[in-house]
Amino acid sequence: MSTEKNKVGLTITAVDPVIEKLGGLLANYQVFYTNLRGLHWNIQGDKFYELHGLYEEYYDDVAEKVDEVAERIVMIGGVPASTFSVYLKTATVKEVSGVFDWKTGVSHVVETLQLLVTQLRELHALAIKAGDHGTVSLATHGIKNFEKKIWMLSAYLKD
Ligand SMILES: [Fe+2]
Repeated sequence: MSTEKNKVGLTITAVDPVIEKLGGLLANYQVFYTNLRGLHWNIQGDKFYELHGLYEEYYDDVAEKVDEVAERIVMIGGVPASTFSVYLKTATVKEVSGVFDWKTGVSHVVETLQLLVTQLRELHALAIKAGDHGTVSLATHGIKNFEKKIWMLSAYLKD
């Protein structure tokens, strides 16, 4: 096995699976971002003001994460996809549209966050194996952030 290192000193063959996993995460974040914008636009009813605002907070947070993940890919020697045609092939988060009902929207967000936490845990394991502490940190911060959102939204959904 090659021991050649990338610019930040990580073994190229070891970070390859990390780059691939980050690419999957990037695609999911992009689809999630777009879904959140749609939920923000279409929410109707007595929860309009609180959820319209909350979705905006969420998509701003995801937009920062998109950049963080894409730049991490570059830092460790990869090339991040930047087109939706690629994202839609790679993403496991499904596109949603025309959601007006608050519970359907919030449930979709919780399910997506659960999927993303699982993906981040897989990323964490691969990054540990590669000795890639920068990506480990990205993964742990993402996991903590999303677990908190899952808790809060699940409490909010409770009848
Ligand atoms: Fe807006």
